[in-house]
Amino acid sequence: MTFRVAVLASGSGSNFEALCHALNSPHQLAHIALLICNVPNAGVLVRAEKLGVPHVVLTPGDFASRMAFDEAILKVLQDNKIEAVCLAGYMRLVGPVLTRAFRGKMLNIHPALLPSFPGLHAVRQAIEKRVKISGCTVHFVDEGIDTGPIISQASVEVFDTDTEETLAARILQKEHKLYAQAIEGLASGRICLGAQGTEFKEPHE
Ligand code: GRF
Repeated sequence: MTFRVAVLASGSGSNFEALCHALNSPHQLAHIALLICNVPNAGVLVRAEKLGVPHVVLTPGDFASRMAFDEAILKVLQDNKIEAVCLAGYMRLVGPVLTRAFRGKMLNIHPALLPSFPGLHAVRQAIEKRVKISGCTVHFVDEGIDTGPIISQASVEVFDTDTEETLAARILQKEHKLYAQAIEGLASGRICLGAQGTEFKEPHE
């Protein structure tokens, strides 16, 4: 039985595509089985079409409230027998309807070394602060903004000549690998959310 993962995305979808390439082959434990997108013309939809991954567009404006929107997402996830959810450039706060239903099974990737630079424009903040090292973080999603327990991080050097674009591109390369590894860990049970935060288990435990 493969571990069925859904990606929630709003933008270009390079992480979505990288995850599909890394995971959607027969010998992998996890499989990107569904994309849910909240922006009707987002680039990620073109990628899903090309890759043959089922995709659903849900537009927040069509729903009476944030909760009704999240409930609709939850129904799609349940109808598709999704076991874990990956946020990948999903530009909306995820409410308690979803965080509770997928506690310990919902991940996010953020383009900074959390807890530094949470929220929007993380790469720009890193440039403005003239940090020498930045990177990306995969973490469990809780109700806060980029506050959930950290699973893994990868670092990149920041050069004086970097712009937001050049640094973001270098960080993205790291994101693509780090995210797939984290999902594999979750699918195998090696990574899980315990009472004290992220737990890492050895394969024989
Ligand atoms: C990534 O930098 C990710 O860390 C952030 O949003 C961006 C999404 O990029 N959460 P893409 O759409 O996957 O290319």
